[in-house]
Amino acid sequence: MGASGYAGGELLRLLCGHPTLSVGPLFGASSAGRRISETHRHLPTLAGRMIEPIESGLWSGALAEADVVFLALPQGHSGAVAAQISQERGPVVIDLGADHRLADPDAWVTYYGSDTPYTGEWTYGLPELPGARALIAKSRQIANPGCYPTGVALGMAPLLVDGLAVPRDVVVVAASGTSGAGRSASATMLGSEVMGSLSAYKVGGSHQHTPEMAQTLSRAAGTPLPVSFTPVLAPMPRGILATTSAPCASGVTTDDVRQCLLDNYQHELFVRVLDDDQWPRTADVLGSNSVHLQVAVDTVAERVVVVSAIDNLVKGAAGQAVQNANIVLGLDEGAGLVAEGVAP
Ligand SMILES: NC(=O)c1ccc[n+]([C@@H]2O[C@H](COP(=O)([O-])OP(=O)(O)OC[C@H]3O[C@@H](n4cnc5c(N)ncnc54)[C@H](OP(=O)(O)O)[C@@H]3O)[C@@H](O)[C@H]2O)c1
Repeated sequence: MGASGYAGGELLRLLCGHPTLSVGPLFGASSAGRRISETHRHLPTLAGRMIEPIESGLWSGALAEADVVFLALPQGHSGAVAAQISQERGPVVIDLGADHRLADPDAWVTYYGSDTPYTGEWTYGLPELPGARALIAKSRQIANPGCYPTGVALGMAPLLVDGLAVPRDVVVVAASGTSGAGRSASATMLGSEVMGSLSAYKVGGSHQHTPEMAQTLSRAAGTPLPVSFTPVLAPMPRGILATTSAPCASGVTTDDVRQCLLDNYQHELFVRVLDDDQWPRTADVLGSNSVHLQVAVDTVAERVVVVSAIDNLVKGAAGQAVQNANIVLGLDEGAGLVAEGVAP
């Protein structure tokens, strides 16, 4: 659902290379009745496939034959669609949108500006967070995390869990490529507006990913933890580079925080703590499901600073969704995914 969008297209690209899963019917809104090749020319193996209206998928019974339905719809739309997919005999539903991520319905209303209620039992699908993988494995409804919150959470959550970062005054500044805004046209996303310039937007805590970051980091810290988040639009198609900082506990060194991340992620295929002379770059994770992390203690400001890089369409969206599907279906968690980026 949402096959014609950027997240849907990336999902299809990954599924075309999946050793076990195959692509079923494709659904969209304004693109219904058109070939998928009109929007995704990079998917030649699906070139003859048609996009069908979302309603026909819900009414025809086609979804009942699927093992997994991926929802890659605009915010506020997946909640209503998911509610119409039977949970008794139906497929696993993985929602790449935001509708089921927030446990607090008031946060949804405040940041997403609609009164769509949070409904049902949904598991927040960030497998590398402590305890998450086992919950995902027994879930039928997965709320796939947002792109910005993924990189931020994987960098800062272990430091809060282990008490190396003090749970207050968390500051995030993160730059994203333009595909983060989706495929629909807007003047601010024109090449002539974006190229050659970095620009901050939704400054002052109004970005919709703010409560999601706060939710995940509060759970890690075991206490309510507000987050100050400033997003930046970067003149590149893909990638997020996030810098997250918080006060560090007394006496904590760079070696301590690096060791914390190394210990937490030593068995993780898709989280890489870089060598101590390297800092994450978006180019290195392009097309991969990896997050690259580096961390240091600023001894003057007495803060721990962690930098993360992801591909917003892969680990930030479609790759993470395939990873979650693999876990739920009992497949190899990395099936259809690569840890290696495209370089140069
Ligand atoms: N882009 C990212 O980096 C990213 C990362 C993580 C999560 N996400 C989430 O993934 C979801 C899709 O994002 P995207 O970037 O792929 O957006 P997108 O490129 O704008 O695609 C949106 C998709 O939803 C369909 N759609 C549009 N209006 C609709 C409506 N009124 N009812 C039902 N379907 C409608 C579109 O179909 P037509 O084209 O046929 O109209 C299209 O397939 C969003 O919830 C987004 O927050 C995106």
